Amino acid sequence: MRVIRKITELRAFVQAQKASGCSIGLVPTMGYLHEGHLALARKAREDNETVIMTIFVNPLQFGPAEDFDSYPRDLARDRLQAEAAGVDLLFAPEVEEMYPKQPAAALKVLARTNCLCGKKRPGHFDGVATVLTKLFHLMQPDRAYFGMKDAQQAAVIEGMVESLNFPLEVVTVETVREADGLAKSSRNVHLTPEEREAAPQIYQALLKGQRMIEQGERHPAPIIQEIASHLQKYSRAAIDYVELLSYPELEPVKTIQGKIILAAAVKYSAARLIDNIVMNCE
Ligand code: PAF
Repeated sequence: MRVIRKITELRAFVQAQKASGCSIGLVPTMGYLHEGHLALARKAREDNETVIMTIFVNPLQFGPAEDFDSYPRDLARDRLQAEAAGVDLLFAPEVEEMYPKQPAAALKVLARTNCLCGKKRPGHFDGVATVLTKLFHLMQPDRAYFGMKDAQQAAVIEGMVESLNFPLEVVTVETVREADGLAKSSRNVHLTPEEREAAPQIYQALLKGQRMIEQGERHPAPIIQEIASHLQKYSRAAIDYVELLSYPELEPVKTIQGKIILAAAVKYSAARLIDNIVMNCE
């Protein structure tokens, strides 16, 4: 596996792959890899001749009071894991390499952001869309891989790729969980032992909501209330949001029908965690 930190070298690599007719699978990440990222890399390995993973903690998608500085980083460990998952090239640029001067243009996301994390983190998805636009131009991937733990991100990227005619397929991969149900996340490392013990209750709360729908409940309010009260009782966290929306449009629904998302975000002392269930309802 090659590790590249400069855009000029990356362009040469991509050109050579394109010239030899190799399909490119891109796995964009912010590093501190876990099984969720590795599942994306393995899927990319199955589908493509060349797999590029990026590791870049993108400052544009963090608000001023958010965890850009404390976001966990460990390139040496990430290298070993990426290589074992079959990545051919790891692109790990410095911030100055990606943003050498004040950008003259950026992406603005126009839909699917007035809810969930988009509402709580103003500008976050504009930052995600802008960095992905740069990465898509640099890597020219045939396919790009994203985890469903960040379901709103997946919906936003699908919308962006469709609206702006990026010539690539967005591939989503199911959330990977710890044995006790906690969604894998690089931020889990910031949980105290007590918080870590309670954090699987986020998924348990969402499962409760899913069961209510399976048992015939079709009104969002009692489901949201049940999830929120489970989180209040058992998660040891402050609730940031609990929402039930259509998916991938992310619109409020009066009656539950078709594809929907049940999503929650909670705040622990040093980590904000998100999780969701996307399901089809009759
Ligand atoms: O999901 C992430 O890790 C990031 O939002 C992404 C897609 C790599 C863009 O910085």
